[in-house]
Amino acid sequence: MPESAPKQAPRGVVTDNLVSLQSFILEEEARYPSATGEFSWIISAISLAAKIIAHKVRHVRLQNVLGEDGITNVQGESQLHMDVIANEVIMRVLGGRKSIAVLGSEEDEEPTILRRGHEGGKYCVLFDPLDGSSNLDTAVGVGTIFTILRNDPKIHGAVETVCQPGHQQVAAGYVLYGSSTVFVITTGHGVHMFELDAAVGSFMLVKRDLQMPPKKKIYSVNEANADGFPQGFQDYLKWAHTEGYSSRYIGSMVADVHRTLVNGGVFLYPPTTKHPNGKLRLLYEANPMSFLVEQAGGSSITAKGGRTMDIQPHELHERVALVLGSRDEVAAVARFVK
Ligand code: AHG
Ligand code: MN
Ligand code: MN
Repeated sequence: MPESAPKQAPRGVVTDNLVSLQSFILEEEARYPSATGEFSWIISAISLAAKIIAHKVRHVRLQNVLGEDGITNVQGESQLHMDVIANEVIMRVLGGRKSIAVLGSEEDEEPTILRRGHEGGKYCVLFDPLDGSSNLDTAVGVGTIFTILRNDPKIHGAVETVCQPGHQQVAAGYVLYGSSTVFVITTGHGVHMFELDAAVGSFMLVKRDLQMPPKKKIYSVNEANADGFPQGFQDYLKWAHTEGYSSRYIGSMVADVHRTLVNGGVFLYPPTTKHPNGKLRLLYEANPMSFLVEQAGGSSITAKGGRTMDIQPHELHERVALVLGSRDEVAAVARFVK
């Protein structure tokens, strides 16, 4: 056998076990002897919703569900059929999980209270059911973003209950419906990536403890808005152009952040003329992505350079300007915007 051939593991030693998301969750749960399995049930429900949405997203034209619903949602954006369908799938799957107190969605003005703390409601789940949905008609990658928070039974209002800073998240993740269907999650112990094997119907572990490269000369921003960026961001872009950076922007946050997480680089949505506080939603877009990026060795800051996950939210649909990605790349932006 030529020297360069990879060394075979000695027989009987399996080096790359086949691990499904289900078994990974149970493995994680076993780390906590007092675990009741309720948290695992929630992740399992999200993965079921993801499989259902993946199937629908991949047949939007065949099932004739492209197009608008004719309703303007709380974001002031026209709701697409698929936004509503994805929202209903998640609500119907998560609604049956007994440990969930509150559900909050980008598509619904108010949170949905399922049960109080004394009725067993231990967790709140916030989500963007279909991120980047304006790209559906051109078959560009779209996604679902979710975050899990603890329910504090002492707090009565649903909005007050879910308005927690990002550093209090229990878990966060996204599903990217791209050239493959990828499920990425953190529970605070690293970032782990799964890929859907549709034939088997399981998300299979493809990367344990993903770590971002600290540097990568790629920035991801909608440069069409640059004239409206604060001067510091404009100065950063001028600097990046002289430093030979490349630009990649898909216009689906999940796809742009996934590329940044896997390859490195920096994703920015600065304040613009149209969105002076930034466009992305703090609770169910910026915070979950920031949790993942920090767990993968990167960082996430706001337009003034403060840590995104330290912001105290006040509204469910609050927007924030965002810079996240490789540690050294975010630091380079911070030097111009602080
Ligand atoms: P959503 O489809 O959930 O409303 O989110 C769209 C967001 C995000 O996915 C993306 O990063 C951003 O909008 C793109 O905004 P621009 O088109 O203004 O660049
Ligand atoms: Mn979104
Ligand atoms: Mn959305």
